[in-house]
Amino acid sequence: MIGGRRKGGADLPGRNRGTVAIGAVPSTGEGEMQKSKGEVRPIFPAGAVVRYRNEKHEDIPLDGLEFFPNFGSKTESTSQHRNILKEARFQALAGFLEECVKDYLDNVYAYEYEGFEIVHAWVNRAPLGGFQRMHYHGNSVISGVYYLKADPNFSAPLMFEKPEMNTQPYIAIATREQTIFTANQVAYPSETGIAYLFPSQIKHGYEVPTKGGERISLAFNVMLSGIGLFYRL
Ligand SMILES: [Fe+2]
Repeated sequence: MIGGRRKGGADLPGRNRGTVAIGAVPSTGEGEMQKSKGEVRPIFPAGAVVRYRNEKHEDIPLDGLEFFPNFGSKTESTSQHRNILKEARFQALAGFLEECVKDYLDNVYAYEYEGFEIVHAWVNRAPLGGFQRMHYHGNSVISGVYYLKADPNFSAPLMFEKPEMNTQPYIAIATREQTIFTANQVAYPSETGIAYLFPSQIKHGYEVPTKGGERISLAFNVMLSGIGLFYRL
């Protein structure tokens, strides 16, 4: 568990920074909760993160690409104002990611839409010790990341942050363990050949400095296309 098992109040005033790791590190078995006697179901989750594995992953050479430093982060990226998936070297990967987007729209959210388009795609490179501050993607419905090079044992995991809810008064209750109902951050391992798709408005980043060499990912944004009958008033 990244962020550790913690007791007591919040690390920051009014904000519990507990983190749950998904599939990254096996539980120590210490202090594990018993399974509820009832059938537990989340109500109104903030969004769905879906993990897809590319069984046909192949290393893609990145020579000749121009990278620029990212503000407030120790990473560099290709231009975020174009769709790098249109380059011939990414053609097979683009096909895989479009299948993932279609699955997400059709089978996870069941959106009624006319078409979709990957509007932006860019490559991020984090050196040893690299990190990316928490951020979200504007002018996009669904975002995704694909790992061109990452090792789940060393590379910084992708972290998602729970959206703030405006409640008064704010009451923080101490927890014995983090669960999906109490954690404010969730960490997903970064691994070559894995894609994660998620709603663009969810804050994400990788604040734990990456270890074990370079971590290279391809990020993208998706918009729905057509004349717009799918927008709901
Ligand atoms: Fe991002």
